[in-house]
Amino acid sequence: MTKQRVAVLISGRGSNMQALVRAARAPDYPAEIVAVISNRPGAAGLAFARDNGIPAEAIDHKAYPDREAFEAALHQSLLRHRAELVACAGFMRILTPGFTRRWAGRMLNIHPSLLPAYKGLHTHEQALADKATRHGASVHFVSEELDGGQVIAQAAVPVMEGDTAETLAARVLNVEHPLYVKALELVASGKVQFKTSS
Ligand code: GAR
Repeated sequence: MTKQRVAVLISGRGSNMQALVRAARAPDYPAEIVAVISNRPGAAGLAFARDNGIPAEAIDHKAYPDREAFEAALHQSLLRHRAELVACAGFMRILTPGFTRRWAGRMLNIHPSLLPAYKGLHTHEQALADKATRHGASVHFVSEELDGGQVIAQAAVPVMEGDTAETLAARVLNVEHPLYVKALELVASGKVQFKTSS
């Protein structure tokens, strides 16, 4: 089978990226991870990628004068790796519309909430403050609106009595890994397609 070439963007630990790397080893998984790129040179996930024989690259956003210059370097790197899809996995940079438009329908993100609830940061704190009984994670296509693109798949967890942001985050992270593996499979195999608004 022809696998879709996927670059994974990270900023830190990279546990979702690791789940994708492990899943993509299966011969019948429709994606291969061709690069792991971090905007933070010290991201722990880069070492995992290197140890697993995957090209790993740091593109330090602080080395660029503005978002556009950083994104131009990122775009060039994605082209160099001949990425067909981009999977943001704990990638903590806001992307400009110019960049998201270039990758529209080909860039995914995992967000730790049941979108459209709790866009942005501190999602677990927000769910607790709301006394939500359900929380979870979503994988969506990246659009110009932060955490606002078409949802591909979601997974829910219960919020338990006595939960802290940490216990809730850990419960959500457990379902994020299989969720992202499934969502990338759906997109890479063509089973889920991006709906253009035109
Ligand atoms: C994950 O919980 C992911 O959903 C979240 O960051 C964590 C990264 O963990 N992403 C966002 O908050 C994006 N706004 P990981 O580095 O272990 O995959």
